[in-house]
Amino acid sequence: MLVLGIESSCDETGVAMVQSHGDAVPTLLAHALHSQIEMHQAFGGVVPELASRDHIRRVLPLTRQVLSESGRSLQEVDVVAYTRGPGLAGALLVGAGVACALGAALGKPVLGVHHLEGHLLSPFLSEDPPEFPFVALLVSGGHTQLMRVDGVGRYELLGETIDDAAGEAFDKSAKLMGLAYPGGPLLSKLAESGDPKAYALPRPLLHSGNLDFSFAGLKTAVLVQSQRMLAAGGVTRFQALPAQQQADLAASTQAAIVEVLLKKSVTALKQTGLKRLVVAGGVGANRKLREQLNAECAKRGVRVHYPELHLCTDNGAMIAMAAAMRLQSGLQTAVTDYAFDVKPRWPLHSL
Ligand code: KG4
Ligand code: ZN
Repeated sequence: MLVLGIESSCDETGVAMVQSHGDAVPTLLAHALHSQIEMHQAFGGVVPELASRDHIRRVLPLTRQVLSESGRSLQEVDVVAYTRGPGLAGALLVGAGVACALGAALGKPVLGVHHLEGHLLSPFLSEDPPEFPFVALLVSGGHTQLMRVDGVGRYELLGETIDDAAGEAFDKSAKLMGLAYPGGPLLSKLAESGDPKAYALPRPLLHSGNLDFSFAGLKTAVLVQSQRMLAAGGVTRFQALPAQQQADLAASTQAAIVEVLLKKSVTALKQTGLKRLVVAGGVGANRKLREQLNAECAKRGVRVHYPELHLCTDNGAMIAMAAAMRLQSGLQTAVTDYAFDVKPRWPLHSL
């Protein structure tokens, strides 16, 4: 079965073709991606209307590219999958509209996919796919969740953020440091030459006894600390501070976020008794997080799985993959009712 997948929930347009064979893990034939990051950078964040318009411009050329790279024709596609939510309503409507138009024109069924399920199942696209059950740490720009995953569609929420997501904590702190949007990767780069112990920043909810997260207070602490540094240095811009101080605050911020993610993941593994951890979502690309999770899990005899680095952030491959796995599991059938809707808010555990 050939599944064409379209992702357009935020600021990346992604298209991919996945093939499934019986019960085997589906394989990726081709994927193409256009990131809008540069376009949104001038505004310091995603501008929803610009995002929607750009998805419109990119989605068909990317689809042609995927068809050409996979060596398949549109007529061979069995199911057209798209991200139904969560995400920006206008952006989601582009992918949903194009998928349903393609489905209707080809006489093929369509399937709306949950974006986070895409992230969650994205490690199945790697050469070392996980086995169920596992604990999943989902860390993206909009979500921070720990889930127990017993199979496709069998998701139990163990804990989640009560305010900002981990990616948001990275991005908002990076913005305070004068770094471009999205600041997560840039903050992490700046942190490389910094001392993670230079500034004592809070580890919110570290000892809360549950698996919930909170990152809003950390962002405020970074703001207060940076203001202190500006006053002490007699400058008005963070980037006018000595390079070492900038790197130290970046490293201290990253250390606070990573420590909370690490400790809560370990608690989730202990509570569930599971010996497998899957890390997915954009923040899963963070090198420090990977280093520390790898070290801690090795000590505990836990196997950790990540998506390939280039598939950590949004892409079409994970959407085609999630659709193929849902269909394969018999959980869902694709439909020929093309009256689509999108779900900008859609909790994963409601699936
Ligand atoms: O999963 P994703 O592409 O989009 C959402 O579904 O939200 O995640 C994007 C988030 C952004 O907040 C970005 O700053 C963060 O992932 N991110 C990183 C790194 N790469 C991406 N954060 C920290 N370190 C990184 N290397
Ligand atoms: Zn995402």
